[in-house]
Amino acid sequence: MHNYILASALLLKSAYADVVYSKSLGAGGLPDEAPVLFRDASRTPISTGTNAFRVANGESWQWRVNITNVAVANASDSSQDLGSDPHVAYTTYDLRWPGNGTLNDQLARIANDSESGLGSSDSSTTNLTMCAYIIYGLKASKQETSCSDALGSQCMQGILSSLALNGPDPTCGTLPSITTIQGCTAVLENADDGLSSVGMQLGNSTVRPNVTAHARNQTDTFFYVTDIASPGNNLTVLEEHQTALQMMILQIGSQSSMTCMSFNDDVKSSASASPSASGSASATSSTASSTSSSAAAERLVGLGALGLAGLAAGFSLL
Ligand SMILES: *[C@@H]1O[C@H](CO)[C@@H](O)[C@H](O)[C@H]1NC(C)=O
Ligand SMILES: *[C@@H]1O[C@H](CO)[C@@H](O)[C@H](O)[C@H]1NC(C)=O
Ligand SMILES: *[C@@H]1O[C@H](CO)[C@@H](O)[C@H](O)[C@H]1NC(C)=O
Ligand SMILES: *[C@@H]1O[C@H](CO)[C@@H](O)[C@H](O)[C@H]1NC(C)=O
Ligand SMILES: *[C@@H]1O[C@H](CO)[C@@H](O)[C@H](O)[C@H]1NC(C)=O
Ligand SMILES: *[C@@H]1O[C@H](CO)[C@@H](O)[C@H](O)[C@H]1NC(C)=O
Ligand SMILES: *[C@@H]1O[C@H](CO)[C@@H](O)[C@H](O)[C@H]1NC(C)=O
Ligand SMILES: *[C@@H]1O[C@H](CO)[C@@H](O)[C@H](O)[C@H]1NC(C)=O
Ligand SMILES: *[C@@H]1O[C@H](CO)[C@@H](O)[C@H](O)[C@H]1NC(C)=O
Repeated sequence: MHNYILASALLLKSAYADVVYSKSLGAGGLPDEAPVLFRDASRTPISTGTNAFRVANGESWQWRVNITNVAVANASDSSQDLGSDPHVAYTTYDLRWPGNGTLNDQLARIANDSESGLGSSDSSTTNLTMCAYIIYGLKASKQETSCSDALGSQCMQGILSSLALNGPDPTCGTLPSITTIQGCTAVLENADDGLSSVGMQLGNSTVRPNVTAHARNQTDTFFYVTDIASPGNNLTVLEEHQTALQMMILQIGSQSSMTCMSFNDDVKSSASASPSASGSASATSSTASSTSSSAAAERLVGLGALGLAGLAAGFSLL
């Protein structure tokens, strides 16, 4: 009898496995717990934004950020009651480029273009790799569409200069410590839970173009953030994703581009008196900020205003 109960409990456990979600971020796309569920959910996001930015040879690429609140029926959390409709906030990044092949194909095309300043006439000898660096943990106090606005141009250009100074890292492993960069110190106080930076190699021009198995395709997720599960009516964690400053640096050879965005305008303010809660994702900055701004976040606004004055030439940002 005892054994029978134990066996059926184990069976129940495996059929309806409780899934404990935790905050995690990293290269790749899909949390192991429920990859198909998350992949499908990210295609119909609650918040989505695209920044066009120029890579070193002048091509315009597109970086997209999607934020989804995924319904996760089997979630459990011993520290809170998740109710009958638990959700997990999920942020994904993907890229689109002008050509129709894989990212490696596109790099091979750039490597073969001697006029790009990156390649040579003999593409087979040009080893062009692409790194992505993501810095996560800053909170935006208003809708952002550019790094110079969000960070101040001194900080943004300091990051780009120190990357240029260090030269390309074939392993895409090291992002110069941004905490010591002039102009960044005050901005970074806004990272309540600390900053994470993730570097990854996205492509390599010398991988045979016809080898697609491990080559990145257009719109593949290459970076993600998942979170703890929350009851369906608690949007706090979702709002943390929407007000997070999304920051990406893309480096081809020794040339870097940097782009930023946030989705503060999408926050459905629970306070009734929010005139800006229209849900429109306009490209211009919103006037009133959402309820989630804090004293720390206000400092970011001040720096953003400073940054507008100094968008110097040399780094392309759209
Ligand atoms: C959740 O539980 C259902 C049964 O209720 C099961 O069919 C499904 O595969 C489970 N999903 C996950 C992601 O574990
Ligand atoms: C992001 O959302 C768009 C729809 O707005 C969708 O077409 C695209 O596939 C999504 N990207 C990812 C990586 O899921
Ligand atoms: C990609 O585009 C080129 C020309 O722009 C074309 O020749 C080729 O067939 C296309 N390949 C695919 C897979 O669509
Ligand atoms: C490289 O470029 C040259 C001309 O610029 C072209 O003839 C050649 O087909 C290109 N090779 C590849 C692999 O794209
Ligand atoms: C690319 O560079 C790596 C490391 O520097 C080297 O091992 C490799 O042979 C190079 N490949 C080509 C095709 O030049
Ligand atoms: C790029 O790919 C080539 C061929 O697979 C390899 O020899 C080289 O080491 C790679 N370069 C980097 C920086 O990973
Ligand atoms: C890719 O093309 C090269 C020559 O261009 C060929 O030797 C190789 O077998 C091809 N690989 C695949 C997986 O088709
Ligand atoms: C990219 O697309 C090709 C062709 O559809 C596919 O064979 C390949 O597995 C895809 N790569 C990845 C990483 O999903
Ligand atoms: C909503 O979720 C957050 C994060 O888990 C938690 O700190 C907060 O107490 C929750 N709010 C309510 C009203 O339960």
